[in-house]
Amino acid sequence: QEITWDASQAEKGGFPHFMLKEIYEQPEAIRDTLRGRLDPESGRVDLSDAALSPEFFEGLRKIFFVACGTSYHAGLVGKYLLEALAGIPVEVDLASEFRYRDPLVDEGTLAVVISQSGETADTLAGLRLARDKGARVLGIVNVLGSTIAREAHRVIYTHAGPEIGVASTKAFTSQLTVILLLALYLGGLSGRLSPERARLLARELVEFPGLLQKLIPKVHPLLKELSEHYFRQENFLYLGRNILFPVALEGALKLKEISYIHAEGYAAGEMKHGPIALIEESVPTVALAPRESGVVYEKMVSNIEEVRSRRGPVLAFGTQGDEHLAGLSTDFVGLPPVSWEISPLLYTVPLQLFAYEMAVRRGCDVDQPRNLAKSVTVE
Ligand code: G6P
Repeated sequence: QEITWDASQAEKGGFPHFMLKEIYEQPEAIRDTLRGRLDPESGRVDLSDAALSPEFFEGLRKIFFVACGTSYHAGLVGKYLLEALAGIPVEVDLASEFRYRDPLVDEGTLAVVISQSGETADTLAGLRLARDKGARVLGIVNVLGSTIAREAHRVIYTHAGPEIGVASTKAFTSQLTVILLLALYLGGLSGRLSPERARLLARELVEFPGLLQKLIPKVHPLLKELSEHYFRQENFLYLGRNILFPVALEGALKLKEISYIHAEGYAAGEMKHGPIALIEESVPTVALAPRESGVVYEKMVSNIEEVRSRRGPVLAFGTQGDEHLAGLSTDFVGLPPVSWEISPLLYTVPLQLFAYEMAVRRGCDVDQPRNLAKSVTVE
């Protein structure tokens, strides 16, 4: 009998696709991104590996996040985190928009440029524009020594390791991790974040990879099963509010990138301003509704009721044991309770698994979706 050696199979570490391997690598990627930068005992963040010290942030009045695609969604989460924890006004721009308008950038501005590859043409142009206007530029980059990493004044590397799948997964959660570190750091500097809260968050963040490691193999079979019910649908709506609104956008992007299903992410409060007109039996809604999200939880519940009363199927992601939400929804995926700040990290992962299983069912080329490139170095 002939023994064949498939090199690409070996690279995938036994997984059928790089994307799945990279989804499963997220606990490790987050751990690597945190390593040496966060002390759970004191809650203190140390960014000296990026040559960052309080002086770099002196006189800071405003932050711009500039990025494309999935990295842009990380910037959107960054706005919620930095405004809440550090009290600094934040704008988030698509790099392709930022570079062709005349943004109000000056010496009091910090431009945070987010890029997995460090080579995206629009993001690089945004960096140069911000730098030329006198802003301090901080890169959040995965690829060491890439152009954006070289041209930014400072770089905080995401230590996600090489990402091969075109659809970004572990790079995104590592970006979210860096942004959380930055929010803790600036929250400490501004005094807005109390040392007690910082300690609690730091501890939760350090424990998060362990939680995720247990969770992924547990929810994966459920999402695979759910994909069997949903994979024939051609239109999806993804709803979230507050810090999970960008996660809804990212969930929808993952689904459309690899399964070619039309999916729209929406802030749930905007439902009544348009998307509700689309609701019918063949248009499922994915809803993100953790019970810990306070007033926004009640609002999400109302949105889910509105969808159900129009016979729209609802696949809800919420807090495990939330029988009320489970009862309202067509399908329910329960996740462990986490703090508001950590919730984007948690809720992103099952949406990746769902998109992955949907694409596999539809026979799509998961790692190399049509018309897409891993790195967009031309306009
Ligand atoms: C491409 C990739 C996306 C990525 C985006 C930005 O579209 O397919 O996965 O999010 O570029 O890339 P960057 O390397 O700048 O994060």
